Amino acid sequence: MATELQRAVPRLHYLCAECGAEAPKWQGQCPACAAWNSLSENVVRLTGRKASVAAATTTPMEAVMAVPGRVIATGSFEVDRVLGGGIVPGSVVLLGGDPGIGKSTIALQVSHACGDEVSPALYCTGEESLEQLARRARRLCCTGARVRLLVESDVDTVIATIEAERPSLVVVDSVQTLRDAGTPGPPGSVSQVRAAVLRMSEVAKATGIPVLLVGHVTKEGAIAGPRTLEHMVDVVLYLEGERLGEHRMLRGIKNRFGATGEVGLLTMERDGMHDLAAPSRGMLDAASLGASGSVLTITCDGLRPMAVEVQALAVASLFELPRRTSSGFDLNRLHLMLAVLTKRAGTLISKMDVYVNVAGGIRLADPGTDLALALAIAGSASNRAVSRHCAVIGEIGLSGEVRRVSRTEVRLAEAAAVGMEAVILPESYRGEVPEGLRCHRVSTLIGAVALLG
Ligand SMILES: Nc1ncnc2c1ncn2[C@@H]1O[C@H](COP(=O)(O)OP(=O)(O)OP(=O)(O)O)[C@@H](O)[C@H]1O
Ligand SMILES: [Mg+2]
Repeated sequence: MATELQRAVPRLHYLCAECGAEAPKWQGQCPACAAWNSLSENVVRLTGRKASVAAATTTPMEAVMAVPGRVIATGSFEVDRVLGGGIVPGSVVLLGGDPGIGKSTIALQVSHACGDEVSPALYCTGEESLEQLARRARRLCCTGARVRLLVESDVDTVIATIEAERPSLVVVDSVQTLRDAGTPGPPGSVSQVRAAVLRMSEVAKATGIPVLLVGHVTKEGAIAGPRTLEHMVDVVLYLEGERLGEHRMLRGIKNRFGATGEVGLLTMERDGMHDLAAPSRGMLDAASLGASGSVLTITCDGLRPMAVEVQALAVASLFELPRRTSSGFDLNRLHLMLAVLTKRAGTLISKMDVYVNVAGGIRLADPGTDLALALAIAGSASNRAVSRHCAVIGEIGLSGEVRRVSRTEVRLAEAAAVGMEAVILPESYRGEVPEGLRCHRVSTLIGAVALLG
């Protein structure tokens, strides 16, 4: 229990800008994440219970039931599905993603769709000038009276403007540029970002105006600032994809109003972000399918299945230590798959360079695509192929067993829908198979490799 004296004296401690960990004294290196020079001062005033506290007024559940569950459409079916139908009034959405991936593009398009002449959206930026915004708005055809612009980084001014103008939606691009005068530290520091998000979230809840915060990501891919940021907002979205490719995936990491893990598929074109109409067809390149090293699999990210092509190239290495590179798969997962192929299926790849790619710039974290990856590598190494009309589904265990994957029925239905005639799938799957789809059931990786033709 803190004494009166302790309460009166402000306590100084330090916060890490990388991981948000606390330290009692300044150190050159964060004791939690080992980042250098990341600790900055944070003053905490210990408080005790006030002498007299009035009881708060509670609200009966029936009164809340009368409030309509309205959502605001964003103009994109794919963005709406990730949000759980649309933007909920008074909610705070955090949108993160790599530099140049298209965060400001989506934010401007959403504000243009949500605003109208009577109640325009407010696009507030601390990063770009009005000229830069105007260039983008012209390119995306988002001109007109539906969006008002504000170049400002002071939180108090932004909040005062929101209260005065009562926009239909507020976009803050980006949250790392906001500055709260009452909080120590430079813009972008942990304490500043936390204070700015808290203030924006308070104004969203008080006015019922939804707020879309754009957030930068760190080298490791997390939204820059404290991890607690994700707890402070209602929805966290990540925009992913290869910057030079045209496909983008909008992934729901957290959603208080809809399914988490839902994925929206978009294409980034010159005139902005568009919904990918037929995702599976958009991902398939008929020319390469059926060649050695190219395997079609059905991934099930979120609730929707999608056909994707996994490509591998295995060639004799000129190096002492063979090269392994991966685009679309985690490199550790590739190493694991190479180890299982070598040990359990006798594939001779230890002296080969292996390059792996997922067509369309998609990132695959779904273990149901393991078998496709393994067969693409084994096929390329031995110049054998999976038929162009055959899809591959299955997870691989360390002992080389092929395991059942989640939502197999949905994946099989999608395989049939994209015109596949056969499927290689785990032996243990006992569910329904669409008519006309031939099944090659396998229980081990070596059994699957034997099917390569
Ligand atoms: N004239 C253009 N024609 C086609 N595409 C363009 C054009 N200008 C920009 N782009 C695309 O838009 C992307 C930048 O989009 P945007 O500014 O929305 O990204 P961002 O995620 O907000 O970036 P940052 O992290 O720098 O704020 C570029 O990487 C490029 O792909
Ligand atoms: Mg931007």
